[in-house]
Amino acid sequence: MAKSSKTSKVKRIGILTAGGDSPGLNAAIRGVGKTALGFYGMEIIGFRDGFRGLVENNRLPLDRHTLAGILTVGGTILGTSRDKPHRMVIDGKTQDMTETIVKNYDKWGLDCLVCLGGGGTQKNALRLHQAGLNVITLPKTIDNDVAMTDATFGFATAMDIATETIDRLHSTAHSHHRIIVAEIMGHRAGWLALGSGIAGGADVILIPELAYDVEKIAEAIRRRSQHGTNFSIVAVAEGAMSRDDARAMSGAEKKLARAKDIQSKKSAKKEIAELELRHQGNTIRLAKQLEELTHLESRVTILGYVQRGGTPSAADRVLATRLGSAAADLINENHFGVMVAARGDGTTPVPLEKVAGKRKAVPLDHSWVQTARHVGTCMGD
Ligand code: F6P
Repeated sequence: MAKSSKTSKVKRIGILTAGGDSPGLNAAIRGVGKTALGFYGMEIIGFRDGFRGLVENNRLPLDRHTLAGILTVGGTILGTSRDKPHRMVIDGKTQDMTETIVKNYDKWGLDCLVCLGGGGTQKNALRLHQAGLNVITLPKTIDNDVAMTDATFGFATAMDIATETIDRLHSTAHSHHRIIVAEIMGHRAGWLALGSGIAGGADVILIPELAYDVEKIAEAIRRRSQHGTNFSIVAVAEGAMSRDDARAMSGAEKKLARAKDIQSKKSAKKEIAELELRHQGNTIRLAKQLEELTHLESRVTILGYVQRGGTPSAADRVLATRLGSAAADLINENHFGVMVAARGDGTTPVPLEKVAGKRKAVPLDHSWVQTARHVGTCMGD
């Protein structure tokens, strides 16, 4: 629907990007900025390095010139950080900076703060909204794990990059008759490994939502060898775990959820931290185990930050632009305390309370999981 008349009085918007960067952040900043400035006649101020920028009054005024030419640029012109308003390290000390942020919001005469971020940012934005600020968020992350939105921007680009890597690994794995285990980002969700695994034709896809049995994977690889194919590509999400490790982690998490006093909370947190530390070498351990069980040589490729860097894909540019533009529409309507979610071809405002603290994991009956299984992909179970 075409936007109607410019009904609002001039409003001043603050905008920041928080959490890990992801392709499409600049496209979203431009989408908010161009609609706010050009269509509604509002003003917009960027704050640098996430929530810290609002604490330190570190700004980047945004105008036609600063917004020009950024659509295709990776990263974020505003910089980002994982700083949390209520637990920020200032002069070496962890402090609650919420009050300072509220004060600075007023000082700059803001009518709204737009926060571009993933799951953590949704929680932080809700805290600021509860502290009295008008807040709107946009869902970004390559992990695609933000609740209540069809998609997050950054995911499509990262999936393209991971797919291209899997494509390239095929020829070298084939030439050397090797197993190549490719570790794909995604935090505790399997969207990126699953999507790129299907698109790249990985033989095995392992996701955190489905604990794996290494014997089952080895069996699938041996079966391929028996049919004359003595190479395999294993796409493993960074958060994927063996059944034993998943059991230990879920036990520790349950302990934390049940813990009543500080001491038992501390001990459960310590247990989780130890398990996370042990998990770090998991992909390398998995490759070694597969080598032993199948007698095929194995290699590991950790895709890492290339998945987050560089220019956004066309799909992410479109998604980020339409979410950004929709945020300016909502500001014009004085509709705050929401995340602008992607819903089909449109967008919809979702109250932050419904998003914060939730994670969109891959449902085990999701069509992507079924599709992978139906084309003969081993899911490790
Ligand atoms: O959430 C995005 C993400 O790239 C995850 O896929 C990954 O686990 C994490 O960020 C890496 O975080 P950092 O940039 O802090 O190393």
